[in-house]
Amino acid sequence: MTLFKSDACVVDVHTHVYLPEYLELLRHRNTVPFVLPPLKKGEDERLIILPGEDKDHSTQNGRPVGAAYYDVREKIKFMDLHGIDLSVVSLANPWLDFLPPTQTTLDLATRMNVEMEEMCLDKAAAGRLYGFGTLPVTSVEGSIKEVERIAKLPHLRGVIMGTAGCGKGLDDPELIPLFEAIARHQLVIFLHPHYGVSLPTSANTEVGHSLALALGFPFETTYAVSRLILSGIFDRLPDLRLLLAHSGGTLPFLAGRLDSCVIHDPLVASRLQHPPSYYLKRLYYDAVIYHETGVKATVDFADPKNIMFGTDHPFFPPLENQNGGPERWMSVDSNLAAITDSGLDKTVVQGILGENALKLLNLSPPASFKKKTL
Ligand code: URA
Ligand code: ZN
Repeated sequence: MTLFKSDACVVDVHTHVYLPEYLELLRHRNTVPFVLPPLKKGEDERLIILPGEDKDHSTQNGRPVGAAYYDVREKIKFMDLHGIDLSVVSLANPWLDFLPPTQTTLDLATRMNVEMEEMCLDKAAAGRLYGFGTLPVTSVEGSIKEVERIAKLPHLRGVIMGTAGCGKGLDDPELIPLFEAIARHQLVIFLHPHYGVSLPTSANTEVGHSLALALGFPFETTYAVSRLILSGIFDRLPDLRLLLAHSGGTLPFLAGRLDSCVIHDPLVASRLQHPPSYYLKRLYYDAVIYHETGVKATVDFADPKNIMFGTDHPFFPPLENQNGGPERWMSVDSNLAAITDSGLDKTVVQGILGENALKLLNLSPPASFKKKTL
């Protein structure tokens, strides 16, 4: 793996935080999602978030949740260590998906978005952070009001959203007014998986979180976005902008099959103005796919200007150094190498590393970057 050197402004569009108030909420819960006290004195608390994780012997103790998950100074240290100039931070899963549509949830969403804006303004952030807002998704009406607020927060550029919508998936017609509001305010939806897909579990092999994250997440995105496209939303709202996590799951690879199956199905063939890949090619994709093959497939399928570097920080820290010492993260370097060693044109690489995100999200390179390039 070549260590990367670039004069590009590097922007991380896929990087998370658990805001302090959110973690505090999880500490007071005893069903998923929740935070457990440290297993041993002196260790970090444990985060249990994925569906069924508490019941599975190999995952029931979750993952350690140290300062990298909530402290802005750790985010900046991580960015410095990996040469990242700007980050667009989003709340990590499962956002507010599990909370009822009450006034308490709506108020929490409003406070979290203000907290996100404040984090971007924090002195420690040194002008290097932007954010995606969080919606109280179980209330569509509340989410629309929150979109109006988010649009007025100077450092927020969109919203992070899971695939459940308000409970019935993204093709639920109830969500249309919310999508309209997001498009009207020119915000971007960062679509991120959480639920996986229901596949039989094995009684024989313990797999920890590995398969849920490696396969369940991308399959979930693949299915949810396909359903959204088949609902015809992009004929109705061609300006709705979606950034898909993990290079769109398996969509760049399966788009042809999706086109063919739709064209041959009498129920859906005439519903859409175009084949599914027409809409898919207009979506935005992060490059959190770890292999050159994945990056090249995404570049080959979609417009290379629609693809953007991400890290998924603070997830996937080096195992032997979970508390974030000065060691570079293998997860980041794999993603960087997949972009920089892929044989792609220099302009394409520079676009993926940062320029595409600057443009899509209307970001200004920070003063530290301008100084670096003088
Ligand atoms: N695990 C998660 O739960 N979320 C992520 O975004 C990455 C890993
Ligand atoms: Zn993520």
